[in-house]
Amino acid sequence: TKGVAIFASGGGSNMRALVADMTGDHPARPAVVLSNNADAGCISWAQGQGIATEVVDHRPFGADRAAFEAAMTAALAAHAPDIICLAGFMRKLTAGFTDAWAGRMINIHPSLLPKYKGLHTHARALEAGDAQHGCTVHEVTAALDDGPILGQARLDVAPDDTPETLSARVLTLEHRLYPAVLRRFAAGDRSPVTLKG
Ligand code: GAR
Repeated sequence: TKGVAIFASGGGSNMRALVADMTGDHPARPAVVLSNNADAGCISWAQGQGIATEVVDHRPFGADRAAFEAAMTAALAAHAPDIICLAGFMRKLTAGFTDAWAGRMINIHPSLLPKYKGLHTHARALEAGDAQHGCTVHEVTAALDDGPILGQARLDVAPDDTPETLSARVLTLEHRLYPAVLRRFAAGDRSPVTLKG
């Protein structure tokens, strides 16, 4: 069985979807939830589930991302994860960290990559007048929201969609896509998952 470290910064709804799926014949189990934010909902929820947690606050490290990442690496050591899943982890990672985890770290992003890397993806899709929008799970490389695509879920944009309604509908898709990809990825299967909302 593979051990999974889930990195999250906020409420952690994707984290919960991943944890909920990791039972029975699933090839992985949650090893630890790590957050840069001690007050994040993901931490209290994981504690309630009896999942190990680690908090590494990025703020004391200022601009020294390498030192922040060294502290995360140290915090992970005791949990010996095989895979890292970024699930709403809102810190950029440097090549030092992404190279160390190459082929073993995946991320979910709320757009149909390569469109709309970075923030405000739903507003940008609406502004562009896109007929479809969605989410992507990809392997993490040094470039932000880049790396080989492991799965995408798409939906049709409605005429009355707002960034808020789109965000909510895409998030529901994320909760289907990410567990489906992790199940394959943990079994060594990188064939892409495709879903339609
Ligand atoms: C999700 O929509 C995820 O795709 C996005 O943050 C949200 C986290 O929600 N991630 C990014 O924007 C990464 N740059 P959650 O905490 O409920 O899973």
